Amino acid sequence: MRSGVLCTASDSEADAIWPALDATHVFDSYDDLQRFRADGAWKVQVTERGEAVVLERWRSHLDVLAMLGVWCSRRRVPELVQQVRRIASARGYGRLLSPMVDTALAASYERAGLAVHTRIVTLRRDRRGWNSGEPTMAEGMHLRRARKDDLPGLVQLDSECFDDFWRYDGERLARYLAKDRMVVAESSHEVIGYTLATTVRGTGTIGRLAVSPSARLRGVGETLLIDALGYLFRAGAEAVSLCTQEGNLASRALYRKVGLMELDSRLVLLSGPTG
Ligand SMILES: CC(C)(COP(=O)(O)OP(=O)(O)OC[C@H]1O[C@@H](n2cnc3c(N)ncnc32)[C@H](O)[C@@H]1OP(=O)(O)O)[C@@H](O)C(=O)NCCC(=O)NCCS
Repeated sequence: MRSGVLCTASDSEADAIWPALDATHVFDSYDDLQRFRADGAWKVQVTERGEAVVLERWRSHLDVLAMLGVWCSRRRVPELVQQVRRIASARGYGRLLSPMVDTALAASYERAGLAVHTRIVTLRRDRRGWNSGEPTMAEGMHLRRARKDDLPGLVQLDSECFDDFWRYDGERLARYLAKDRMVVAESSHEVIGYTLATTVRGTGTIGRLAVSPSARLRGVGETLLIDALGYLFRAGAEAVSLCTQEGNLASRALYRKVGLMELDSRLVLLSGPTG
């Protein structure tokens, strides 16, 4: 291997970078990393200098390769991104997506030809002061844990709530159903919304909140959100944080209403063609 050149990580190289990967929570566990590598070893790339990049297809219906994480000095980012572009192009991907990075780091990705795709707001609330009991249900509605047989309906719901870039496919939703707490809101035997919540090392996060367009502005989103926050705090999370697009004013208003505070800093996702 040439010193600054990315190559597929061997077993021992993957073990060597595990502490760095672990610290940034890209994987839930070491076993999770091993499963990821078994699915395609090329998705973990390292250099002899100990730099690393973790890659994954962004969505199964898009030819976008996402960098889940990049571990190198800021100075080296443009060079490594150029190398990833070539890997992506050779594997038939048309576009490359950066990790979610602080705006201060965006220039390093822009130097490699990527441009800001989405600006992201992070919101957070501490457990302190949380005393909401059971959420109030709109008439005729109830919440329950999602089941496998909900998946086709959830794929449909997700595509009504998110554009092609953000929507989840069935395989991704099945993975989250198995791993996270997925709750659906149901009315007249129809699923009208859902949340995904999980706790990673003491911090809760809500990975998804979606309400069918025909059921909006009736308190369904707020009910699902209060239920998810209550679950995460009961499960021991000291704080809950989540992200949304800066331009998503409806969700930002909802999150603020239940006491989530917006951080001043912004994260960005950058993207660009691979060719
Ligand atoms: C964001 C979303 C979940 C809101 O669901 P909802 O069921 O319509 O929301 P609720 O009726 O519970 O609204 C609760 C509060 O949220 C805010 N809110 C909701 N929709 C809003 C809108 N379109 N404009 C402004 N504020 C809005 C309001 O503060 C509202 O309180 P109010 O009724 O007292 O004014 C829904 O619009 C949605 O699924 N959007 C697409 C997916 C998405 O953006 N998900 C979140 C980001 S990951």
